[in-house]
Amino acid sequence: MIIAANLKTNLTRKQTTEYVNELEIFLNKNNISQEVLVFPAASSLNAHSGKVTIGAQNAYAAKSGAFTGEIGQDHLDEFGIKTILIGHSERRHVLGESQEELVKKFNFYKDLGYKIVYCVGEPLEVREAGEKPMMEYISAQYEGIDVNYENLIIAYEPVWAIGTGLTPTLQEIETIHKDLKKKSSAPLLYGGSVKVTNANDVLVLNSVDGILVGSAALYVEHFCRMCEYAQNIENNKLIKGNNV
Ligand code: 13P
Repeated sequence: MIIAANLKTNLTRKQTTEYVNELEIFLNKNNISQEVLVFPAASSLNAHSGKVTIGAQNAYAAKSGAFTGEIGQDHLDEFGIKTILIGHSERRHVLGESQEELVKKFNFYKDLGYKIVYCVGEPLEVREAGEKPMMEYISAQYEGIDVNYENLIIAYEPVWAIGTGLTPTLQEIETIHKDLKKKSSAPLLYGGSVKVTNANDVLVLNSVDGILVGSAALYVEHFCRMCEYAQNIENNKLIKGNNV
């Protein structure tokens, strides 16, 4: 499974280093072999080797150049970063990134072989408009994206569930994930108000391959617990498999 922490605009470089070190100790001590990704703020990026993979929350579709306020491939290379988050709803809706810009970014980092966590998800008014408009809205977020890219991970994050404490029901997550799995066989994460209290329930769903966690991941002990849940679920699957 894939357990990912999006730290957003939180934690300084010093705090992030402490966070990642603590997480690393926990993963080693508890034999956790799940894929654990951490996305720090741009100025908190740093080189890291171990079980945790560090990824960028964003970068411009350029090696370097005149793009004030942005970072480029060179800045990621400095720290050996080869993982990037693209299409997060805060970049789409707060920072105004268009699908066209996202596709450009996707293709740039795809050509470099990056692991890409590509986010999709609908705002509340779209969900309330019904199943058909909702699926049309989400489908448009797949436009121009190579859904067969080997290093692709997709994260379904309903915009209305992000940072609100609201979540779709488990049944709703299962239904939409099943639909999204028809579009791409890439691993599919769920994100949006995942907490230590609901993470296990979400992770056990058949169509969920992992979680992308925001606010609750800021507590390293909570994020560690979620990694442990994922490991236990995988261990149980193995036990069940061996007993068949
Ligand atoms: P919350 O977990 O705070 O809802 O944020 C989810 C998210 O945006 C992860 O990318």
